Amino acid sequence: MGTAVDASNKEVKKDVRVIFVLGGPGSGKGTQCANIVRQFGYTHLSAGDLLRAEIKSGSENGTMIQNMISEGKIVPSEVTIKLLQRAIEECGNDKFLIDGFPRNEENRAAFESVTGIVPDFVLFFDCSEEEMERRLLNRNQGREDDNIETIRKRFKVYMESTLPVIEHYNSRGKVRKIDAAKPVEAVFEDVNAVFASIDEKVAA
Ligand code: ADP
Ligand code: C5P
Ligand code: MG
Repeated sequence: MGTAVDASNKEVKKDVRVIFVLGGPGSGKGTQCANIVRQFGYTHLSAGDLLRAEIKSGSENGTMIQNMISEGKIVPSEVTIKLLQRAIEECGNDKFLIDGFPRNEENRAAFESVTGIVPDFVLFFDCSEEEMERRLLNRNQGREDDNIETIRKRFKVYMESTLPVIEHYNSRGKVRKIDAAKPVEAVFEDVNAVFASIDEKVAA
């Protein structure tokens, strides 16, 4: 549980539950979030999707965001957190999957201090680089960053900046690790088991 804060930093009385969804590029975060939304009624917020929408909206940060994404770099937390806060505020739901965030220690610490939201847990999709690379090269969503040169940069950023965030939560017993190398349906069986056990706890 946490209290959300609006974009101007005012506290608003909204209790929200947040699950961070992490894993390398192409590990299947977006695919599985869609399944979780259908089955368990969460709202899916993908930090990458929010940043891409911000570019399309013609925002003053658009060019900077575009440059960062095409280099596989992490956009300053301030920008991404504002987009997440706005999406949380505008949504009637009170439970969220935040996908692709926090991507580094700065993302993690800033989100916690600005919003006061502590995630229930981190859903971690574990997959080999070889398999993720194959998936990204076949994704076909017209993403500029799904080319081999940028993919390699994204893998490096993931190893250097995101894995330590996962380790941070792991050392606090907050990581639910899923073998994401299996076929989509098999991965969802494991995801389902994690969420079904939360529902049981809520009911108990
Ligand atoms: P992420 O959001 O983690 O970057 P996506 O959900 O977009 O990953 O998946 C990347 C690509 O891999 C997509 O084309 C998707 O259809 C495919 N994909 C997702 N999960 C699996 C899986 N378990 N096995 C094979 N392909 C997958
Ligand atoms: O998660 P996704 O693969 O959609 O992210 C695409 C890109 O968006 C990342 O490689 C990064 O450049 C940017 N991003 C970011 N900060 C986040 C999430 C994504 O800068 N928290
Ligand atoms: Mg995604």
